[in-house]
Amino acid sequence: ADSYPELKRDERFAKLTKEDVEHFKSICSAPVIEGLSTDASDDLEPHNADWMRKYRGTSQCVLKPKTTEEVSKILKYCNERSLAVVPQGGNTGLVGGSVPVFDEIVINLSNMSNIRSFDPVSGAFVCDAGVILEVADNYLAERNHIFPLDLGAKGSCHVGGNVATNAGGLRLLRYGSLHGTVLGLEVVLPDGTIMNNLNTLRKDNTGYDLKHLFIGAEGTIGIITGVSILCPQRSAAKNVAFFGVESYEKVQEAYIKAKEQLSEILSAFEFMDGAAHEIVTAHNDVRRPLADQHPFYIVIETSGSNKEHDDEKLGTFLEDLMEKEIVSDGVVAENETQASTIWGLREGISESLSKLGGTYKYDVSIPLKELYSMVTDTKTHLEKAGLVGEGSPVVDVVGYGHLGDGNLHLNIPVRYYDKSVEKALEPFVYEWLEKRSGSISAEHGLGVAKKPFLKYSKNEVMIRLMGQIKKLYDPKGIMNPYKYVPEA
Ligand code: FAD
Ligand code: MLT
Ligand code: ZN
Repeated sequence: ADSYPELKRDERFAKLTKEDVEHFKSICSAPVIEGLSTDASDDLEPHNADWMRKYRGTSQCVLKPKTTEEVSKILKYCNERSLAVVPQGGNTGLVGGSVPVFDEIVINLSNMSNIRSFDPVSGAFVCDAGVILEVADNYLAERNHIFPLDLGAKGSCHVGGNVATNAGGLRLLRYGSLHGTVLGLEVVLPDGTIMNNLNTLRKDNTGYDLKHLFIGAEGTIGIITGVSILCPQRSAAKNVAFFGVESYEKVQEAYIKAKEQLSEILSAFEFMDGAAHEIVTAHNDVRRPLADQHPFYIVIETSGSNKEHDDEKLGTFLEDLMEKEIVSDGVVAENETQASTIWGLREGISESLSKLGGTYKYDVSIPLKELYSMVTDTKTHLEKAGLVGEGSPVVDVVGYGHLGDGNLHLNIPVRYYDKSVEKALEPFVYEWLEKRSGSISAEHGLGVAKKPFLKYSKNEVMIRLMGQIKKLYDPKGIMNPYKYVPEA
């Protein structure tokens, strides 16, 4: 594929034949999308191209199983035939992990969309992997609960995809990572074996906790078909506030104050810089929440059980921040519409950036003190290389993200993708991170995009063990090949 000049198709894998397609038709209850005997290019395209239109494969076959048994039959057959596969959820991943690199068969989970059970006493929710995150959250809202994960792609991404990427999102600060909230998983292994670990127990200390291997594995050792997750009670009171701040030091001060004064009701602490704010407001037809422009903006959300109590806390907090000049301006949403406008600005950044042409995306973890230096240092570096501004590919260098989690989204929007920009950024960004003991992926994962850079976050011993795990679970290497996992 032209998209991956540095990769070669692995000839260990068989090529799809008409007999394979006939076999899939006999074991799948949903239509098989295939390009061997039909012109299915329009139907194949959304499964071959990723959300950013940056990564594209040439699969000739997409399967949409309806049951775990169908997934098992498909994988058993593919394993025997050495046909490579790529598991796919809502295809909103941002590292090229959810689309084929060459001709891998796409196994898309969108037909597995049943909610299996919900226990209002414990909060344990069990569903098929293909349930859309927003559908799960709406179902839970009707039962006064909340899905413990929220992110901008909620309308398309799947719960299974979220688990496979160990997605972080907007409220990790409050509800923790999926490694804490996922109670159990049902997974089909590459040889078709079904591992049923759909526990709804909070505590289960019976040796190796196998589910954790699949959380964040990005579809490289098995296909998640069912998820059991602990869902918190929905908060009766919710407030959203938006602040303008003069410096990154003050952003950190505001975070310390938020933890001190909002403590148990704080449910999100997000930030964006002035450049990200400019781009998102220019692309969305909404009134800017604050009249003046500021170098930084913060979104704070509180969720609690008592509206009066939360309003009072937030009011005092805002007054204190203004009085101490930690923030320059601020507004508290007065109704649902204003709250969703503020959240819309934060959640809409990635889409607005993608409209500019393309974006080099780095999703990184850095100790908070130095988090924003990555944006300024990268900008200086690109300016020195003459790559920023009129007539150059780079539009700007922007930073936003989940500040409370120490997670920066460093984005370099470009008018067009250009190798000179990529060369200037990589390994610059990764070396910068290595010096500060950061992580090359905080939440999006590695996919194919970060494949060459694993060594910046994992040492040799860890990389060797990862290769051994892959070999043990997937000896023929058919699951999501060419992606980040090292060969054993
Ligand atoms: P896909 O994109 O289809 O797949 C992602 C990876 O998981 C692939 O490697 C795929 O092979 C694998 N996979 C998918 N389903 C399964 C399965 N059932 N079993 C095994 N493997 C599987 N991420 C965050 O962490 N935080 C955010 O705040 C955030 N915001 C986003 C906002 C936008 C607008 C967009 C487009 C993306 C955002 N993301 C965010 C990226 C994030 O990874 C995805 O949105 C989501 O978690 C992926 O789910 P999906 O169903 O789309 O998976
Ligand atoms: C976000 O926090 O907005 C997402 O992770 C998506 C992105 O980084 O673009
Ligand atoms: Zn994010």
